[in-house]
Amino acid sequence: MMTAQQIRDAFTNYFVQHGHKALSSSSLLPDNDASVLLTTAGMQQFKPYFLGEKDPMKDFGAKRTTTIQKSFRTSDIDEVGDFSHLTFFEMLGFFCFGEYWKQETIDMTWEFFTQVLKLPGDRIWGTFFVGDEDVPRDEEAEKAWLKYLPAERVFAGPKKDNFWGPAGKVGTCGPAAEVYFQLVENPQGEPSSSTDFMEIGTLVFMEYNKDEKGQLTNLPQKNIDVGLGLERLAMVVQGKFDIFSTDAYTPILEKISALKGYSESGDQPTDGRRQRIIADHIRAACFLLADGVRFSNKDQGYILRRIVRRAADQFQTSNIEIVPLVDIVIEHFGGTYPELAKERGNIVELLHQELDQYKKILDINVADLVAKLRKIKPQPELDDKAGLSDIPLSSEEAFSLHTTHGISLDRLERLRFTFDKQDVEKKVQAHKELSRAGATEKFGGHGLNDPDLESKYTKDQIFMMTRLHTATHLLQASLRKILGPSIQQKGSDITPERFRFDFAFERKLTDEEKKQVEDLVNEKIHADLPVSWKMMPFQQAIDEGALAFFKEKYGNEVKVYTIGDFSKELCGGPHVEHTNQVGKFKIMGESSVGAGMRRIKAVAE
Ligand code: SER
Repeated sequence: MMTAQQIRDAFTNYFVQHGHKALSSSSLLPDNDASVLLTTAGMQQFKPYFLGEKDPMKDFGAKRTTTIQKSFRTSDIDEVGDFSHLTFFEMLGFFCFGEYWKQETIDMTWEFFTQVLKLPGDRIWGTFFVGDEDVPRDEEAEKAWLKYLPAERVFAGPKKDNFWGPAGKVGTCGPAAEVYFQLVENPQGEPSSSTDFMEIGTLVFMEYNKDEKGQLTNLPQKNIDVGLGLERLAMVVQGKFDIFSTDAYTPILEKISALKGYSESGDQPTDGRRQRIIADHIRAACFLLADGVRFSNKDQGYILRRIVRRAADQFQTSNIEIVPLVDIVIEHFGGTYPELAKERGNIVELLHQELDQYKKILDINVADLVAKLRKIKPQPELDDKAGLSDIPLSSEEAFSLHTTHGISLDRLERLRFTFDKQDVEKKVQAHKELSRAGATEKFGGHGLNDPDLESKYTKDQIFMMTRLHTATHLLQASLRKILGPSIQQKGSDITPERFRFDFAFERKLTDEEKKQVEDLVNEKIHADLPVSWKMMPFQQAIDEGALAFFKEKYGNEVKVYTIGDFSKELCGGPHVEHTNQVGKFKIMGESSVGAGMRRIKAVAE
């Protein structure tokens, strides 16, 4: 059985033998590239070579390179804990700047998989781009696959799976072929949408550049960008059915099981999910810290904070033993990535600080919130004794702490609050269904409640629309501040690129007004206000001043979103968690769309 290290070595050797220059991974913090927060793919360090701005012969003495790239993606963060999703992963990549093209790429990929890794060829499936109005069907890639695969195992796939890039808003992109490994004897469904398959490689034929307007132009030469996920390859090579059972992960999981204060019993999630969340998030945090990311409330620092806090939430105690976890990560990855051992002191110290701070925030806040909920002054027993003696909560109190303030039921229990858990869980479940149904029924129109959303857009695009959706609330509140409380939203439309916001108003806005509105929205974004929601009876929402513009059918219980103390609206969501995530807000135009009706077009950068 090949270990993860043997796969790394075999990969580099094979591509070096085929004329590729082996280069080091670049940092997780992208160098001179403001288009992404963190390095998400091996191709990023090669952008200038794809664009023809730099000469690979001059810099590497070759037109082919290969790397094992440290990569981090937030797109799958909520899925982490299942068997295949990760935030941090290692990407085995090979790249070519204008020397070979599709057939050779597929030839080498095939040979590496079947001859070097010895994967059974009859379990491999290939896909290629089906084509759209901008880019033709990729018949060349289809033909290249057919040299090795029978037609039943070659699929044409849509843009969301088979067109890659750009990483960021503009940049290099192209049609992609994907490689899938069949995990079961008789697989059901198509590779891209079935759990009977595991995607093990993306082969990008990087021949276009996408500009600000979304226009594609040909790059000066045809480039190749291939990425193979090491953890997934280890899984199939080692005959496992989940990433966490490979030799890259089992030592970390074993270490977690042995920690004091960790147990799989208790509240959801169990079945090993907690362990996997801790393993992924702490490994990722070690790599991010080693590359210089520091805890903060924005950008990369916020991502780091989020994963460390989420890992902390999986423990039964807030006194987490972090040192053994850092050490096991260093033991297993320090050979390939020496920066981990070099930065050990910083990693340990910063994790300790963050975990201490998190513990304090949680302990104080919960006691405080309970006092508020009961409309009493903070009580000594709530302030001091949380965590020491039992404090009974009614089901409504526990439910409210959970849904409104996001405090998990197991954390409440850990803090020694007692409540009827079954009853609260039932309420939480009912509430989830209600808000899901409510969201699709009542708040259609802005594009985010489209039931087919996930098949039409990538996760990044959906997140962009979510950011813009929060921006519409900020815009509405700002218009009311600047132009007066008579402003009423009449509709909105959101795409991944921009949003339109229609409202009743008699005249054109002056440049000065537009500027004031834009500045106010940006001020609120900058203030990083929390975005939260709760369910309440319709009348109560109205009495509390929540804005409601779609007058038709509201149920009894409505969902109300608040942004700090700046905005309060009935809305089905989704929204970002805090306003800094929206990015820089910009009004692109303001125009009339009929008598007494204006339209603002805006973007977030
Ligand atoms: N850029 C592609 C990816 O990230 C292949 O390297 O999947």
